[in-house]
Amino acid sequence: MNRGEVHVEQSSAAQESFRAVEWRDGALQLLDQRLLPQREEYLTLKTAPDVAQAIHDMAVRGAPAIGIAAAYGVVLAARAAWQRAGNGWREAIEADLAHLAAARPTAVNLRWAIKRMRGRFNAIQGEPEAALLAEARAIHDEDRAANFKMARLGAGWLPPDAAVLTHCNAGALATGGYGTALGVIRAAHARGALKAVYVNETRPWLQGARLTAWELLRDGIPVTLLADAAAAHLMATRGIDCVIVGADRIAANGDTANKIGTYMLALSARAHGVKFMVVAPGSTFDLSLDSGRDIPVEARDAAEVLRHGGRPVAAAGATAWNPVFDVTPAGLIDVIVTEKGLIERPDAARVAAVIGG
Ligand code: MRU
Repeated sequence: MNRGEVHVEQSSAAQESFRAVEWRDGALQLLDQRLLPQREEYLTLKTAPDVAQAIHDMAVRGAPAIGIAAAYGVVLAARAAWQRAGNGWREAIEADLAHLAAARPTAVNLRWAIKRMRGRFNAIQGEPEAALLAEARAIHDEDRAANFKMARLGAGWLPPDAAVLTHCNAGALATGGYGTALGVIRAAHARGALKAVYVNETRPWLQGARLTAWELLRDGIPVTLLADAAAAHLMATRGIDCVIVGADRIAANGDTANKIGTYMLALSARAHGVKFMVVAPGSTFDLSLDSGRDIPVEARDAAEVLRHGGRPVAAAGATAWNPVFDVTPAGLIDVIVTEKGLIERPDAARVAAVIGG
């Protein structure tokens, strides 16, 4: 593998033609990802329960973006708690924090962000909003900066002229900006090091077809979509070099939860001699879990499988099982790219060496 340095320019306007999550005029603005790519509409949220609902309903999704949205949700919760209870805001805020934390179970960034916001509480005197907004903005900015670092490291790890396959959406839509897996793809494309980008459509929610294709095409990066079931055939017949995915939670031994179908891709990649790269910031690691066995896997409404675009696609009377994440064992992962460094052939010792433990 070529581990050459790749220069990634953080300030280029071309890197960000939209903001999926933004604090504006005292409220949280979210690009409603349920409507893309047909409509680009923004939600303006002014209460923490509304933020929790938007996370649950996937108006905002992707582990780091969920964490950032929750951090701004804590700001809104603190504003309301201060209005209700004045100096008693620390007790008054708890119900909203519990509501936010329960919005989605798998992405650990959600709980990580709430915990980090909570860490500011004790030092605050008087009205809490300004101090908490500064912390939420710091979480947002740090995530974006981490993505640029990971993009540089990950693109340097890829072989020249690589054909890559990604799954779901781990891009600017799913993060504070630029993206994790898509950050690596953007950086590799910018230095002319990509032969092809294949994108799984990602049933049932179609994050690949609707969101990843939209994001990459906006940046002029050609995309070839495939049905998820075509991935093994793609690897067998088209010379894929690397699968690049994001993560929702990584256990202490490197086992990685990500969008349903990722595990299948990792198995297939190993069978075909294709490299498998996970790209995720430190906030996605859950060192309290020894292995992926203990990662909670979200199951969503069967209707997401049985219906599409508001219309039934399954025979009437069929039931469906809809786990929306799976866990890829660390042994199938060649490298985890973090802002703190690369973790090659991850295991507990190598994760601890880079992330701490
Ligand atoms: O259900 P989603 O769309 O929130 O799932 C998103 C993913 O699985 C992403 O790959 C993951 O959160 C990483 S985003 C940088």
